[in-house]
Amino acid sequence: MRRLTPVLREDGVDLDLISLIRTILAACKEISFRVSQGALAGVLGSTLDENIQGETQKQLDVVSNELFKDITLESGFCRAIMSEEEEFSVPGNPEGEYLVAFDPLDGSSNIDINSLIGTIFSIMKAPVGAAPDDQDMFLQPGTQQVCAGYVLYGPSTMLCMTTGKGVRMFTLDKTHGGFLLTEDKVSIPPATKEFAINMSNQRFWETPMQRYIDDLIKGEEGKREKRFNMRWIAAMVGDVHRLLCRGGIFMYPTDTKNQKQPFKLRLLYEANPMSFLVEQAGGVSSTGYERIMSMTPNNIHQRVAVVMGSKDEVETCLDYHK
Ligand code: AHG
Ligand code: MN
Ligand code: MN
Repeated sequence: MRRLTPVLREDGVDLDLISLIRTILAACKEISFRVSQGALAGVLGSTLDENIQGETQKQLDVVSNELFKDITLESGFCRAIMSEEEEFSVPGNPEGEYLVAFDPLDGSSNIDINSLIGTIFSIMKAPVGAAPDDQDMFLQPGTQQVCAGYVLYGPSTMLCMTTGKGVRMFTLDKTHGGFLLTEDKVSIPPATKEFAINMSNQRFWETPMQRYIDDLIKGEEGKREKRFNMRWIAAMVGDVHRLLCRGGIFMYPTDTKNQKQPFKLRLLYEANPMSFLVEQAGGVSSTGYERIMSMTPNNIHQRVAVVMGSKDEVETCLDYHK
């Protein structure tokens, strides 16, 4: 349980924050186990419900959300939590110092095809004196995050995390249940020949993005004078993991496919935590027009355009938007 007065580790990190992170990892290990059991755990397929975003909920969206919510609230470290799968924030311990925003299961369309999925989380400090049911506590810019990360449920289960001093990756050792440090200093190469975007939306993008992608596709015959390759995992957690491992540019730009919803990805529990990781690994993250982490959210489920990854390539893309 949380301590009454903050106790700091030698490097200045609050021990309550470390305990909260351990709690989050305990929840992710539970999710990882169910993911690996697949049909045997009865977690595949859809529910009959829609979430607040109007998306059909998969069984695993619901199971992951309940596990993550119950375990983090039970720990006592959180003043409140908020999730993609919850319409409102959920109040926690009035004495809790932290707020956690999370996407319990990212890449829902991959669940039933046994493909890459993950959990994304973002931790901020709760404002002094704010009531646990004050949802506006979450409307802080991404620069206020004290920790962000994701757990990837792939061939191995991996944690990628930052507390603002670089990015580390850990691999879950299922023989004893611990996350072992496997990459100490994650660094995104500034140049790349790999891009990730859902090309089926091409005709709905704005002109600057159309022109940028056209020039990538022209390869060595176009003004970029090099051949690009494309990847699309359809789970941000997987696409961002790839660019943290070997560079690249990941985009989910504004589109006019659905006039009521010009953006796909959510600021508080997708774009902000991933931007924190990308920036900490030497990359750049923008909407195309402004730094994502500098935006002040106006709604807990706000959506935003995303362009992130290798520094030089993202800056080239941003030049098209000027
Ligand atoms: P979620 O499963 O949490 O709703 O998020 C899915 C998001 C993101 O992870 C991914 O990059 C994108 O949706 C995939 O979009 P497309 O279906 O357009 O490929
Ligand atoms: Mn998601
Ligand atoms: Mn999700």
